[in-house]
Amino acid sequence: MATATATRTVTVNAAFLQEIKEVNQDLWRLLADVRRMCDSPATIDSAPRRFLGLVEALRDDLALHFALEEAYGYFEDPIDVAPRLCRQANALRAEHHELYLMIVDLSDASELLTQPGFLIGAVLKAVSQFQLFDQRLKRHESLENELIMQEYGEDIGVGD
Ligand SMILES: [Fe+2]
Repeated sequence: MATATATRTVTVNAAFLQEIKEVNQDLWRLLADVRRMCDSPATIDSAPRRFLGLVEALRDDLALHFALEEAYGYFEDPIDVAPRLCRQANALRAEHHELYLMIVDLSDASELLTQPGFLIGAVLKAVSQFQLFDQRLKRHESLENELIMQEYGEDIGVGD
């Protein structure tokens, strides 16, 4: 996964990035499953292994998703790109790494829930960890979608 490379020119390939988001239905399904369990923490308390399995699958799918976005959805050194779009693209691409670290932390915390004698406080902590991650991911996705639309807009602008 790319780390912040603030000095490089980078932009998105709007069509590819949009397609990667649309085809990765497993990821969004897993996210909805984890969200559902976090909405009623008692389900985690009674099935911590199921929760761990979902979080680990989400972590792995997310790693693949970010890798695909970075390989096909973003590209460096474009010939002509508005500096504002370039800055946004750079920031969003760098955010993948932070989001991935958050889900890795959550899977570590979820693993502890499968050990005997865990406390309900640990479940609630994992839930709030997930909610923070979920908010950041939602924001990331909506900003990437905005960038896709702006990129399409720029293309139309160039043709005018
Ligand atoms: Fe992304």
